[in-house]
Amino acid sequence: MSILIATQFTPAEWAQWEPALRQALPHETLLTAWPVAEPDAVDIAIVANPPAGSLRGLNRLRLIQSLWAGVDKLLADPGLPAGVPLARMVDPAMNEAMAETALWAVLSLHRGFFAYAKQQREGQWRQRAQRRADEVRVLVLGLGQMGRTVAERLARNGYAVSGWSTREARLHGVATQAGDAALPAMLAKAEIVVNLLPLTPSTAGIFNAQTFSQLRHGASLVNLARGAHVVEADLLVALDSGQVGHAVLDVFQVEPLPADHPLWRHPSVTVLPHVAALTDPRSAAEVVSRNVQAVRQGLLPEHQVDRARGY
Ligand code: NAP
Ligand code: GLV
Repeated sequence: MSILIATQFTPAEWAQWEPALRQALPHETLLTAWPVAEPDAVDIAIVANPPAGSLRGLNRLRLIQSLWAGVDKLLADPGLPAGVPLARMVDPAMNEAMAETALWAVLSLHRGFFAYAKQQREGQWRQRAQRRADEVRVLVLGLGQMGRTVAERLARNGYAVSGWSTREARLHGVATQAGDAALPAMLAKAEIVVNLLPLTPSTAGIFNAQTFSQLRHGASLVNLARGAHVVEADLLVALDSGQVGHAVLDVFQVEPLPADHPLWRHPSVTVLPHVAALTDPRSAAEVVSRNVQAVRQGLLPEHQVDRARGY
C-alpha cells in the first residue's frame, strides 16, 4: 500500500519536508501527485492544508495524518472521507516554540517593549513604570497541547496565570476554570489574554464587541490560534477606543493579511505572519512515522481528532 502526501507546500517547504519524510518512512511508497492513478492502493494520507476534495475517492484510507496542529480547514472540507481516523500534529517541539512566542509577547507587553519600539520611531526618551511579573494577570484560553505549555511557562516566569478550557484542567501554578459561565469574570480580571483555542463552531468569533467590553480597559490580546476567533472590525473599534490597549496577532481572517488591511498599520498592533509555532519537519516526521507504524500494525494512531468536538 502507498501513502499519499497532499499538501500545498512551496518548493522551498517541500525541499525541507521531503528528506525528513523519506528518512522517517524509508520503506514506504510516497505519492505526491493527485488524483492518484490507483486510489485503492492508498491507505494513508499525510496532509497539510490540501485543496478541498483532495482525498475524495480514497476508499481504503486507514489514517489521515495532518502535519498541522489545527485541523479546522480540513474538517471544513466536505470531501474529507468520513469514518477514517484523523490524527493531528502533536509535537513537543511545536509546544515549545509556541511557549517562546507567548512568553515574548507577554514579556513585551508587561515591560512596555512594544511601546518603547514606538517611542524609538518617534525619537522619544521616556521611562515607564517597571512592574513585577507577579503583578500582571495573564489569562490563557485553551489548555490543550499549546495552552498548557504556555500557561505553565508563563507561571514559571512569575506571571499570575489563569487558564480556561471546556473540561476541568489541573496545571502547576495556574488557576484554572472551565465552561462558558466562568469566562466573563476571568476576562474582567485579565490584563493580557492569550488565545490558544481551537477553531470550532463554538469558538469562532469569540473575540467580539461583547467580549472586548468585558475586559479591563486597556487589556491586551495575544492571538496565536486562528484568525477567525477574532471579529477584526470589532477589534479595530476596541483598539481605537483604547478598550484593547495592544494586540499581538499571528493569525488573521485572511492570510496573508491583505496589504491594505488596517491592522498592518494600526499603532497598537503587532503583526506576525503566522509563525508562532511552525511545524518542524525533523521532529514532525518522526511523529508521522510512529502513527504510520501503529496503523500498519493494526493499532490506533495517536492524537486522533474528535470530529464531533472539532479538535
Ligand atoms: P488542543 O490541544 O486541541 O487544545 C484545545 C484546548 O481548547 C483544550 O484545552 C480545550 O478544552 C479548549 N477548548 C476547546 N473548545 C473550547 C471552548 N468552547 N471553550 C473553552 N475551551 C475550549 O489545541 P492545541 O494543539 O493546543 O492548539 C491550540 C490552537 O493553536 C489551535 O487553534 C491551533 O490551530 C493553533 N495553532 C497555531 C499555530 C501558530 O503558529 N499560530 C501553531 C499550531 C497551532 P478541553 O481540554 O476541555 O477539551
Ligand atoms: C499551524 O497553525 C498549525 O495548525 O500547525
